Amino acid sequence: MGIASIVFGRIVPVLVLLVAIFLGWFATVPMAPGIFFAIMGPAFEKKLPPVLFGHGKMKGTPPVPDDMMPEPRPANEMFQILPSGDKMPSSGIGMCCRGTAYDDVLVRRSVLWYLLLGGRHIDGAHVYLNHKAIGLGIKDAIERGVPREEIFFTTKIFPNFYGYNSTLETVPKWLDETGLEYIDMVLMHAPDLPLARSECKKAGISNKQCRQDTWKALSELKEKGIMRNIGVSNFLPEQMKELQDLNLEPIANNQFQWNAFVPGEQQTIFDYCVENNISITGYYSLGGSLQKAQASTVETLQLLAEKYEVSVSKLMLRWSIQRGTAVIPGTGNPKHMKENLQVYELEISSEDIQAINELRDSEIASKFMYIDPKNWGE
Ligand SMILES: NC(=O)c1ccc[n+]([C@@H]2O[C@H](COP(=O)([O-])OP(=O)(O)OC[C@H]3O[C@@H](n4cnc5c(N)ncnc54)[C@H](OP(=O)(O)O)[C@@H]3O)[C@@H](O)[C@H]2O)c1
Ligand SMILES: *[C@@H]1O[C@H](CO)[C@@H](O)[C@H](O)[C@H]1NC(C)=O
Ligand SMILES: *[C@@H]1O[C@H](CO)[C@@H](O)[C@H](O)[C@H]1NC(C)=O
Repeated sequence: MGIASIVFGRIVPVLVLLVAIFLGWFATVPMAPGIFFAIMGPAFEKKLPPVLFGHGKMKGTPPVPDDMMPEPRPANEMFQILPSGDKMPSSGIGMCCRGTAYDDVLVRRSVLWYLLLGGRHIDGAHVYLNHKAIGLGIKDAIERGVPREEIFFTTKIFPNFYGYNSTLETVPKWLDETGLEYIDMVLMHAPDLPLARSECKKAGISNKQCRQDTWKALSELKEKGIMRNIGVSNFLPEQMKELQDLNLEPIANNQFQWNAFVPGEQQTIFDYCVENNISITGYYSLGGSLQKAQASTVETLQLLAEKYEVSVSKLMLRWSIQRGTAVIPGTGNPKHMKENLQVYELEISSEDIQAINELRDSEIASKFMYIDPKNWGE
């Protein structure tokens, strides 16, 4: 390991973490978590964080050729049908976590690449700090002939911004940030976070009441046409129930960690969504950007990938889709985007789906990061 990799891979992230906790920074500046992720994402890959050193210097996503025009959408494309009737493509792209998600120049290019390659579902969030760059990528693609109404753009409100007033104030600003006339879906990013400092916390409002107040504001914004669908992320069944009890807008989607390694208890969240017509989007479908490489060493997956003559990545994405979720693999690499859009071509047999299901109970599963949703707020 070279000096640079020790400094950026180990020392810098640890220092940043300590400083953040030490200053209670998370608790005071609303977008501090976003800045924190924008430093850590690149730092884990030994890249200089653009949020500190400037955008447009990172390598990763090549420029899109000037003469590239939109390619057809994928054959056999699959969708999640939402309560509004909107169709959300099952294979999307995620816009966080990997280093390239934090360089605005590369984000703009990634979005243009993805849309020109036939993809139509983009997963963002306020806390990823890249609304503007995503919006520019969408604008570039529209100029080259991709119809806006085919694009499905999701973003998320972070717990620091929860609360009735705060939600009404925050979400409409995203139209300006993205340059869009409407947003396809807005999710509540997590039930709560231990250090979140929302309007509710300041006013002594309980977490449950705060989630309900936020939902009320989102429902009103949806009525006004700011967004077309509203949903949640990392929510447990009882937390979804709290919102359903309000009898406002239906929950269109729950986005949570879903891959072959998550513990069986995630299945109860999954089942609740299916029973309640809440569409599911899985994240970390490939094991997450930090453990993607480890996923491709799992023997069961390797053997099945050989059998179907596909990569382990494609196998994992297809497994999720056949289990009934949408996927949003994060990538800044056009070759990977193309492969991830070809997931509709593969069909895994039910015995092999079962073999992958069983990984959850094997020892290997415990070697993968799992963020227990019970820790995201009570
Ligand atoms: N709601 C939440 O709380 C939450 C939490 C975490 C993430 N998310 C969302 O979920 C998305 C996915 O999560 P993630 O990006 O962390 O993890 P992931 O999708 O499991 O893995 C992403 C990693 O896989 C690589 N990759 C992608 N396609 C590939 C392919 N075909 N072949 C080989 N490698 C491939 C990417 O690298 P390359 O760039 O080199 O392709 C990247 O490092 C995020 O981007 C975000 O939108 C949501
Ligand atoms: C929301 O705004 C109203 C009107 O300005 C105000 O009376 C109320 O205290 C605010 N609520 C919170 C929780 O800050
Ligand atoms: C789910 O949707 C189906 C078909 O549209 C409907 O019959 C059923 O009542 C719905 N279930 C719930 C819990 O909303």
